[in-house]
Amino acid sequence: METGHGEFPLARGRRLRRDDFSRRLVRENRLTSDDLIYPVFVIEGEGKREPVPSMPGVERLTLDELRREAVAAAELGIPAMALFPVTPPERKSADAAEAYNPEGLAQRAVAAIKAEVPAMGVITDVALDPFTSHGQDGLVDENGYVVNDETVEVLIRQALSHAEAGADVVAPSDMMDGRVGAIREELEDAGYVNTRILAYAAKYASAFYGPFRDAVGSSANLGGGDKRTYQMDPANGDEALREVAMDLQEGADMVMIKPGLPYLDVVRRVKEQFGAPTFVYQVSGEYAMFKAAGANGWLDERAVVLEALTGCKRAGADGILTYHAMDVARWLSEER
Ligand code: PBG
Repeated sequence: METGHGEFPLARGRRLRRDDFSRRLVRENRLTSDDLIYPVFVIEGEGKREPVPSMPGVERLTLDELRREAVAAAELGIPAMALFPVTPPERKSADAAEAYNPEGLAQRAVAAIKAEVPAMGVITDVALDPFTSHGQDGLVDENGYVVNDETVEVLIRQALSHAEAGADVVAPSDMMDGRVGAIREELEDAGYVNTRILAYAAKYASAFYGPFRDAVGSSANLGGGDKRTYQMDPANGDEALREVAMDLQEGADMVMIKPGLPYLDVVRRVKEQFGAPTFVYQVSGEYAMFKAAGANGWLDERAVVLEALTGCKRAGADGILTYHAMDVARWLSEER
């Protein structure tokens, strides 16, 4: 640092930090409810909210409860919800046909929210894992290998069924090659030119998804299996840029990096290189860590969650999928 009279500095970073007014004036990033996407698990039945043991505070909702939740989310200023159906075991199969059932749970959930709160953005997950008897995101061959092009054919049908149900955004989370382009073409052909695609462009084969697989009930199906032949190696960063480039070229409107905190370097690189709408998914395992530390009194949950999400913004994220969305929107409204 520049020194002035004697040994004292002329430039002092602490001047602007001294008062609340100047800290506010120079603040570079601001987390608002506009940044939040709220992921929700939905179940069959009525009048039920089922707690998810590995995600304290998160509940699986029946469609009537989902409607209520959508109203509450809209009141808190949350722009969009992402739906994850829990498929009853008897509806799972090797060919995942339930994925594109027009009367499926996901499709009815979309319609329920759009009927209750038409302005709420509804995002659906395009992947086969909630519907396959083996818990993989695609169809498997006799060796258990997830076959790409055959899977894409099913994903196309699934995405179209979501659009027909009224989904505003379809979000392929399966990591098959070529699926974004194939889905885009199908949507265009069917006249859904404004149905947006949020591509899980750089999705890593992460151990942080454990609680999610409990929540949707796919972990038992998956058994000891893993997803490393299609989800990315956590050691790779350049490869994420290639994946994002492909998805944007194929017509993705927005891209996502997943998980969040351990991958913020990837968020920064993607944002800098492409300047595209970039989202980050703070996944179930991240949520579980914050909850566990908070419950034990080891960390101040509210403070660390707000800090972590602000960090996502600073890294370049335009928005964040987080199971803390409702809490965060409430905390932010209390702070004003
Ligand atoms: C399914 C899907 C997963 C998540 C979102 N969509 C799980 C997986 O890939 O195994 C994880 C979300 C989370 O952990 O919060 N394709």
